[in-house]
Amino acid sequence: MNARMDGLRRRLGGFAFGGDYNPEQWDRPVWKEDVELMRRAGVNLVTVGVFAWASLEPEPGRYTFGWLDEVMDLLHGGGISVDLATPTMAPPVWLSHGHPEVLPVMADGETFGFGNRLHYDPTSPRYREHAVGIAGKLAERYSHHPALAMWHISNEYGPTAYGPCAAEAFRTWLRRRYGDLEALNEAWYTRFWGQRYTDWAQVAPPEVPRTWSNPARRLDFKRFTSDALLECFVAERDAVRRYRDDLPILTNFMRFYRHADYWRWAREEDAAALDIYPDPGRADAHVAAALNFDLMRSLRGEPWLLMEQAASGVSQWRVNNVKRPGRMRLGSYQAIAHGADSVLYFQWRASRGGHERFHSAMLPHSGTGARSWQEVEALGNELPRIAAAAGAPSTAEVALLFDWDAWWGLEDTYGLPRNDFDYARIATDHYRPLLEAHYAVDLVSFAGDLSRYRVLVIPNAYLVHDGFATAVEAFAAAGGTVVISLFSGVVDRDNQVRQPAYPGAFRRLIGAYIDEYWPAREEETFEVEFADGTTATADWWQESLHPETARVLGEYTGGDLAGRPALIRNDFGSGCVVYIGTRLSPEALRDTVLSAVRAAGVAPVVEGAPPYVEATRRDRYLFLLNHSDTRTASVAVPGPGVELLGGSTVDGTVTLAPLAVAVVELS
Ligand code: GLA
Repeated sequence: MNARMDGLRRRLGGFAFGGDYNPEQWDRPVWKEDVELMRRAGVNLVTVGVFAWASLEPEPGRYTFGWLDEVMDLLHGGGISVDLATPTMAPPVWLSHGHPEVLPVMADGETFGFGNRLHYDPTSPRYREHAVGIAGKLAERYSHHPALAMWHISNEYGPTAYGPCAAEAFRTWLRRRYGDLEALNEAWYTRFWGQRYTDWAQVAPPEVPRTWSNPARRLDFKRFTSDALLECFVAERDAVRRYRDDLPILTNFMRFYRHADYWRWAREEDAAALDIYPDPGRADAHVAAALNFDLMRSLRGEPWLLMEQAASGVSQWRVNNVKRPGRMRLGSYQAIAHGADSVLYFQWRASRGGHERFHSAMLPHSGTGARSWQEVEALGNELPRIAAAAGAPSTAEVALLFDWDAWWGLEDTYGLPRNDFDYARIATDHYRPLLEAHYAVDLVSFAGDLSRYRVLVIPNAYLVHDGFATAVEAFAAAGGTVVISLFSGVVDRDNQVRQPAYPGAFRRLIGAYIDEYWPAREEETFEVEFADGTTATADWWQESLHPETARVLGEYTGGDLAGRPALIRNDFGSGCVVYIGTRLSPEALRDTVLSAVRAAGVAPVVEGAPPYVEATRRDRYLFLLNHSDTRTASVAVPGPGVELLGGSTVDGTVTLAPLAVAVVELS
């Protein structure tokens, strides 16, 4: 039950459609035209004021709310609801000029100055005081405005600070975590290189850019930074909530964002919300997008909000390709298919100047004659056809581990057998076969409830918590299927190697120990032969695996580890565990993952559809998306129903033209 989000859905009567609206960039006469065109495009929600701090508080304590009053009234008059933002991602110049200590000192010791955005130190008491101040003023004034539908706190929380405020806050965080200094010395293993601390005052953020600082200290600094940013969110949220309790309050997350543990964050919000900018220049960008969408849904186990996307191209990369005709619509439905209850964009009207003047917008520079406008307008007017699906839940029987501590351990602490792990990519590699074979997937953290799944995939979880290892054992013992891949279970929460043998946390589970990790040499590949005589290639990584209770599924045919296992399988209680000790080719990884899922008896959403078609379910709504630019696909549908976008009756199969979408309400 999420009463605040239910209230939003009721108010909007279905999916939210709209985007960031920055009227302070335009003169008054434009505003009226904006509202007229918004109505034409089916816009029902806009996010106002994200970067408007300087226009709302031009001098400390002097507020100029008049223009925002007008905008709120105008939008309300047009029947458009407002997601009101607190503008604290971009503090006005008077704040940083008058109080330079609010600027973040970065890892290299340089100060991040005014002229961009994110120029705030999240640990600065002065920054927090002003941020909470403007948030409270906005809430005081607009909490009961009839246009107000929800709150958008700040924007894409992000900066990491290393200055004096951060050092002080880090020490406070560490004291809370460890209580006494001896516990910190133990956790950080300061006996190495004689780093023992004797006074709290000696403890500081990890020195950078040297990558060689204490790995447990680096890990704690990641945790601390995520928490420090979250404190900023919570402080503003509470300042706003004081005035009204029934509206959703949230902030917007980013794709594969490493510096904030979104599992912890999502608990503090009324919904998860994501900004996504898949690169239109990459044919498979939808795969990582799907993973991020599933992550958003999983964070709270609920529908989430697509808070920003581009109507066409972005402007921050070297080459910014457009979204070809049909791609924006497809990507929008893809988010909905994975649980989004909105299609929102950055931004409504393309800016004339400023950093992102070439970032596409719902209303582009060339106005309503533009191809991309027409696609936006068409989508906005089409979405009401599936309004009944808003709020519909999804279920999955396959879970994939995606945990920030695992990520930080692997990528942020250096000193590993190889130091080029890419956790998000490895997770995506394991996710892709499931997506392409039409299995529903939830993401889980170390604290996740595993009991509702039949299969758990653990990609490359170098650092795992004890509680998770115990939970995975219980899951397997009770009949679950577990697939674990390379270099997992190696260290504990403090980044200390589990003794007496690798892979410490999972040794019993996989029924084998590893005596040495063997990162591959440049260009080195390996052949793996399976029991049935088939072979696969692998590269990048090997492990010298010694089965104890496991049996061998595939072994190396050559090289130093010839005859040694690359893949093993261990029966564990009523379940089983497959362990992959190398980086398999995409095809072999696909076959390994899918055979485990099939053997576990999990059914795909649809049978026999091609891999470029995506299929998901939200309750009785079946979403089919054809990602191919050229191929038509026929998909067998599990039961009769009605295709809601075209209005046709479905019985048997649905035919999807290239880039087509079908939303079938199954009877
Ligand atoms: C992010 C930000 C927006 C805008 C877009 C497009 O998601 O939140 O303000 O900058 O990227 O680049």
